[in-house]
Amino acid sequence: MCGIIGYTGSANAIPKITKGLSVLEYRGYDSVGIAARTELGVKTVKCKGRIGALEERLTQQKLSESQCAIGHTRWATHGGPSDTNAHPHRAGRVVLVHNGIIENYKELKEMLSRAKVSFLSETDTEVAAAVLNAAYDACNDPLTAIRTATAQMTGSYAFGILFDDHPGEVWAIRSGSPLILAKGEDGFYLASDMTALLPFTREYHILKEGEIARLTATEAALCGAADAWCSPTWSITSMTPESAQKSGFEHFMLKEIHEQPEAIVKSVSPRIKNGLPSFEADGISSDFWKQVKNIQIVACGSATHAGLVGGSVLERVAKVPAASYIASEYRYHPPIAVDGTLVVVISQSGETADTLAALRYAKSAGLPTLAIVNAVETTIAREADYRVYTYAGPEIAVATTKGYCTQVSVLYMIAAAIAHACGRISDEEARELVRSVAEDAPTAITEMLEKTETLREMSKRLAQKDHVFYIGRGLDYAMSQEAALKLKEISYIHAEAYAAGELKHGTISLIEQDTPVLAISTEEALYDKTESNVREVRSRGAYVILICRQDARDPGHSADEVILLPTKSEAATLFASLTAVQLLAYETAALRGCDIDRPRNLAKSVTVE
Ligand code: F6R
Repeated sequence: MCGIIGYTGSANAIPKITKGLSVLEYRGYDSVGIAARTELGVKTVKCKGRIGALEERLTQQKLSESQCAIGHTRWATHGGPSDTNAHPHRAGRVVLVHNGIIENYKELKEMLSRAKVSFLSETDTEVAAAVLNAAYDACNDPLTAIRTATAQMTGSYAFGILFDDHPGEVWAIRSGSPLILAKGEDGFYLASDMTALLPFTREYHILKEGEIARLTATEAALCGAADAWCSPTWSITSMTPESAQKSGFEHFMLKEIHEQPEAIVKSVSPRIKNGLPSFEADGISSDFWKQVKNIQIVACGSATHAGLVGGSVLERVAKVPAASYIASEYRYHPPIAVDGTLVVVISQSGETADTLAALRYAKSAGLPTLAIVNAVETTIAREADYRVYTYAGPEIAVATTKGYCTQVSVLYMIAAAIAHACGRISDEEARELVRSVAEDAPTAITEMLEKTETLREMSKRLAQKDHVFYIGRGLDYAMSQEAALKLKEISYIHAEAYAAGELKHGTISLIEQDTPVLAISTEEALYDKTESNVREVRSRGAYVILICRQDARDPGHSADEVILLPTKSEAATLFASLTAVQLLAYETAALRGCDIDRPRNLAKSVTVE
């Protein structure tokens, strides 16, 4: 949520910052800006809109050369999208960009207003700049000023800072929001996200909470709480520049849907030993799984839906009670923990504020925590007692697809590991379950991808509608929730998911002639019951698309259109149904001309509560 990039070195910073901002746009895209050091001092160019608008302004304002600059792409929190509210913000001799929220900004603003400081914008960031400037005026030392100023702030922040009288230097600090330093051939970088750095370098250092960084053209230095300066420890990321490019696909979302088979294999194979589930490489022994008596899964949005599917699999396979909770609610209605409760948090980005708050709450309650995370070394991954990475690679589209898919596959593996460790399934059953996820699921996804044309045809009807219903029972109800969210967020069509048997208790009154109902029916044992619900809505005029097993009895008789799924195993059918609903949402949004990778009002990685 919001993106930061900074550079200082011997090359021209402007194209680097604009390139980095275009990569970062998925983190926020309502306004964008640059502050660059020129011969005449630090010049700021910013505007409402996207990177294209900024590039026009840069040309108009003749800002094309600089060796030291910071940039920002914004997702509005305090104050709507506007030129004035866009970052960077200046106060006196300080210019900064900010990710996060300064929670006590009102008190700080009132304090500064009493001292006759005036403000141009409605943002908490401008207040932070003014607090820093006041501290800098008092000491003339960037390090002391950053410490003094941030000590007055509550909330979360990642700052990239330029001081007027420290040419060639970029300063940074973070607390609660991610920030990464990087070393290139011609200088040093700062970014909120590794993907923004991939066009330039793969050598990075993750800034620790409270650590202050000073970058110059020739050196990166860090200062921890003890006030001693040291050098960063550089690592090489396994991500490649291609992993953050569309590689011939029209949208990142489509590319990421196509990457799912490979992403599952990458996520699942490190957890297989001699064909059996094993999390030893993650530092989790089978003795650990034996102690688990109850699981609370906590996450947001699609990750909560992954938890719903995973929870159902855990209960069925491992016979462990497992419920999925919305992270932003978890603290207010904490579920009762019993002996042997494990809290599993799920997050693609590893930075979602609500999930992080829930994780911290669980830890403070003394509960063991395990994080299923995609982005490595992120705050959630670091703070959890145990971490299991999903290895989906960078996910750029705002709507998650491969992130969700790998979360479900890892939950399957956890269910298999617990069931096997506790002797609830035999070696043979465990091997078969693991094989079905590692082999059948990727194959089934590939088979569904081959049906893209057919799904595109079906989307033509959906694209003209304002309301769509998804129904399913059991696992399919959980999948329906994810399906409805996908359609809503990228196509802006109102979509609701209902337990198939629940519709008749009220919502069926909304069914009219031609109302689209997508019925998901992958569970053999529940087919007949779901089919009855399909008949109920169809006899009231609904246009039904049935997504069901290819061995279902006469599905064409029950529905207007049918999508048949491979049936090699439960995992094959489930992941195929996921791919079908993802593609339907994608194609529908494409037909409606929506901005698929950057849906309105949204941003990737929601770092505010
Ligand atoms: C929907 C979507 C969101 C995220 C949610 C949690 O397509 O992407 O609902 O799933 O914001 O994000 P993470 O997994 O990064 O914690």
